[in-house]
Formats: sequence, structure tokens, C-alpha cells
Amino acid sequence: MTPADQAIARACCADLYQSDVARMLFGDSIHPGGLALTNRMAQLMGVQPGDLVLDLASGPGTSALALSRVRRCRVVGVEFGAQATAKARDRLIMQPGGALVSFVRGDAEALPLRSGAFDSVMCECSMSLFPDKAAAASEVTRALRPGGRFGLSDVSLAPGSLPEELSGTLGQMLCLVDALDVNGYVDLLESAGLALLHREDASHEVTRILDEVEAKLGLFSAWSVATGWGDGDSSILDQAPGLIATVRKLVQDGILGYWVFVAENPD
Ligand SMILES: C[S@@+](CC[C@H](N)C(=O)[O-])C[C@H]1O[C@@H](n2cnc3c(N)ncnc32)[C@H](O)[C@@H]1O
Repeated sequence: MTPADQAIARACCADLYQSDVARMLFGDSIHPGGLALTNRMAQLMGVQPGDLVLDLASGPGTSALALSRVRRCRVVGVEFGAQATAKARDRLIMQPGGALVSFVRGDAEALPLRSGAFDSVMCECSMSLFPDKAAAASEVTRALRPGGRFGLSDVSLAPGSLPEELSGTLGQMLCLVDALDVNGYVDLLESAGLALLHREDASHEVTRILDEVEAKLGLFSAWSVATGWGDGDSSILDQAPGLIATVRKLVQDGILGYWVFVAENPD
């Protein structure tokens, strides 16, 4: 990808996750496992009260706010989408834990942050989306203090196994299009100078999120029939059940999964 193509990819990705459709399908916690998996990862990372934590690609800020509330830590969220960043900032006023949290608009591949400032960095369901993953991983290492930990959770996909029908918007929404396999993530972390401490298979969470998306699409479909919404173009709703069945099969066959990794900056 040329730098211009990468810039377009980042902007399109941010627009997609800020869209009403994404919000309707995934809610405000946009990764498999929701806040329970966020909390599990924070536990594995050893986040302590008072720590300074970076949430890379923080979306609408749900994980950052929850982490600060549960762990009594300070959190900085960095997010590429302008709308998502504004929404996250609005939530600071309303939500418990908001005083310890801030949100900055920025690119994970060129962080607008000081070196060595963070006790921990986390990145949920987003590394798979970054066009230049090596640049993002090296920014994580730069942001971490020596001994600081990185928690990464993301979609894993066996190389070359993405079916053609999932190479479009739905595949992008499900973080499939540019996902690595498990060894690819381990190589990425190690190439950035991080030492892997732990890896955990959370692939069952993909099945759970598919159940939820399917239920919401069912409701949406019934609503659109009742109201006549989208008359004449039901193609996305028509295709969705087949596409979801394809994703389910990939999970069952062990081709697609969701993994948690924890690594340390040994410097
Ligand atoms: C699947 S969502 C996950 C959001 C959040 N981490 C969560 O789990 O709720 C992916 C997020 O990555 C953001 N993103 C994509 N590319 C980015 C980049 N280069 N820098 C910062 N954020 C980025 C998107 O705008 C989107 O909000």
C-alpha cells in the first residue's frame, strides 16, 4: 500500500466504526469478549491503581472508562476517528472514572505521546486494522517504560484463507481483511523488541458476538419489513445470514479465532 492508500484506509476504517450500522451491531464495546475480556487482559497485564495506561484505538472510550473505574488507573485513549474521539470525550463528564481518563485524536502508527511514559498499553481488536502494523508495534514499545506491559487482543486468521465474499465491508467490520495468524502476532511483538509473556485463546468469543449480531440483524430485518425501511434494497440483510454462517464455519474449523497476547518491554 502506498502512504496515500494507507491514509485512505485509516479514514475509511474510522468512518466504518463510527457509523450507525456498526453501533447498532456491536454497541459501544467493539471487540469480542466485551468488557469481561478487557478486564481479563488488564489482570494479565498486572495493571495497578495509579498506573498510566494507553488504550490504542480507543473507539468510543468504553474500555478506557471501564478500566479506569475498575482498576483505579489513569488512561489515555488514542483514536483516529474524530467523531469517536468527540463521543468518548462527551462520556467523560457523565461516567464514573472520567476524571482519570483523557482522549486524544491520533494515529497508532505515529503516536502524539512521550516515549517511556506508560506503565501499560492495550490494543483491542484494532492491530488487525492498522495498515502498517510494524510501525504501530514499534510505537507501543516506544511508549512503554522499561518493564511495562502490552496487552493485545485481536482476530487471528490463517494466511490466505479469507473467502472472497468476506473481503468487503462486513469482513472489514469483523477485522478479518488484514488480520494475522497467531504466529504473525507473536512475530510482530518480538520484532518490535517485546518479550511474549502469555497467549490465550478466546475464539469462543467470536461465536458469541456472531450470535448477538445475528439476533440484532433478525430484529432489524423484522423492523424494516414492518416499517418499509430500505424498500427495494434488502441486499445486505439478505446476504448477512449466509456471511455469518461462513464466519461461524471458519471459527469451527480453527481458521478464524480471537487471541489475547501479553508482552513486556524488557529494556
Ligand atoms: C474494532 S474498533 C475497536 C475499538 C475499541 N478498541 C474497542 O474495543 O471498543 C477499531 C478502532 O480502531 C480505530 N483505528 C483504526 N485505525 C487506526 C489508527 N491508525 N490509529 C488509531 N485508531 C485507529 C478505528 O477508528 C476504530 O475505532
